[in-house]
Amino acid sequence: MTRPASAKTLLRVLAGEAVGPPPIWLMRQAGRYLPEYRALRARTPSFLDFCYAPKIAAEATLQPIRRYGFDAAILFSDILVVPDALGQVVRFEAGEGPRLDPILDRAGFEKLKPQIDLERLSPVFETIGRILETLPEETALIGFCGAPFTVASYMVAGRGTPDQGPARLMAYRDPELFAALIDRLVEASIAYLHRQIDAGVEVVQIFDSWAGALAPGEYERWCLEPLRRIAAAVSPRVPVIGFPKGIGARLAGFGEAAGVAGVGLDSGVDPFWAAKALPRGQTTQGNLDPLALVAGGPALEAGARRILEAFRGRPHIFNLGHGVTPQTPPEHVAALVELVRREGR
Ligand code: CP3
Repeated sequence: MTRPASAKTLLRVLAGEAVGPPPIWLMRQAGRYLPEYRALRARTPSFLDFCYAPKIAAEATLQPIRRYGFDAAILFSDILVVPDALGQVVRFEAGEGPRLDPILDRAGFEKLKPQIDLERLSPVFETIGRILETLPEETALIGFCGAPFTVASYMVAGRGTPDQGPARLMAYRDPELFAALIDRLVEASIAYLHRQIDAGVEVVQIFDSWAGALAPGEYERWCLEPLRRIAAAVSPRVPVIGFPKGIGARLAGFGEAAGVAGVGLDSGVDPFWAAKALPRGQTTQGNLDPLALVAGGPALEAGARRILEAFRGRPHIFNLGHGVTPQTPPEHVAALVELVRREGR
């Protein structure tokens, strides 16, 4: 018997219902902290090849679901497949993170494809189909992309940077060029997410990991407005979760301004502040410190209880405030899931 989609707790909470215990999934729930992921990963040296291998990527997606029974699976891929499908050279160096041929000027921008090559991303859509073949009925499938500013920060710098300086500087010095890059990414993201939804994802999350680096004014222009355009295009089809990491007090009006169903909170946000400052019906997601999960024990318990208490009676999705880190002991994740299910009523 197929259950109605609305039986999935993640979808109910994104529709505004307060559910106890809250649904739980974790950003980067598939990854190097899991021995079964490391074994799978060891067989494919190139990370992009790994992302573009449907059987393997589907298996990576399902590993944490089997182990922990999370309420949602997140498609295994990366935000940097979008620059790759726009024709930029993207590599992942072992132990060093992503390396791209940086876009330094108008000539660099002109080398990008005018439109995203969705053919190149066809393995991702095939991965979604494969995941759905074996995903438990009660588990929601989340698709994702990076938000334009966060993706642009890698495209301009060619790598991760402490303060996204190169992209922020381009935005000040040549706002016309930066706007062209952001527009290209808005269009690419919309096309890419539509295809993920066609393939079967039921929710999308937009990761704006570096939104907090932008000054007032810049933030509205390069984060909020592009996100609003993407959300307006895809949210008639599926609920959107925005994750504007590091924006602090600007979270208060974020859900409404961006037009998203869910607001992801990073670990710097006090859950009691958020429960007061964000509108009562606003679905929130987060926000345990990933290091509390590494530490486990009393740190994990106190952090998780604080979140459960602050959001009790409100539509909330339990998650971390950023991704699971590689040094996380897998048994701490099991302990967290158990605590949330036991005490989150
Ligand atoms: O489980 C999941 O959450 C789904 C898969 C996922 C990955 N990356 C897998 C991954 C998701 C949603 C992402 C998003 C992502 N990727 C973001 C936004 C969220 C965030 O963490 O801030 C960003 C900024 C990236 C870019 C990226 N990808 C970096 C900077 C790195 C290198 C750092 C690192 O952790 O190695 C990656 C590589 C990456 N993406 C790995 C995984 C599991 C590790 C690669 C490996 O296995 O060798």
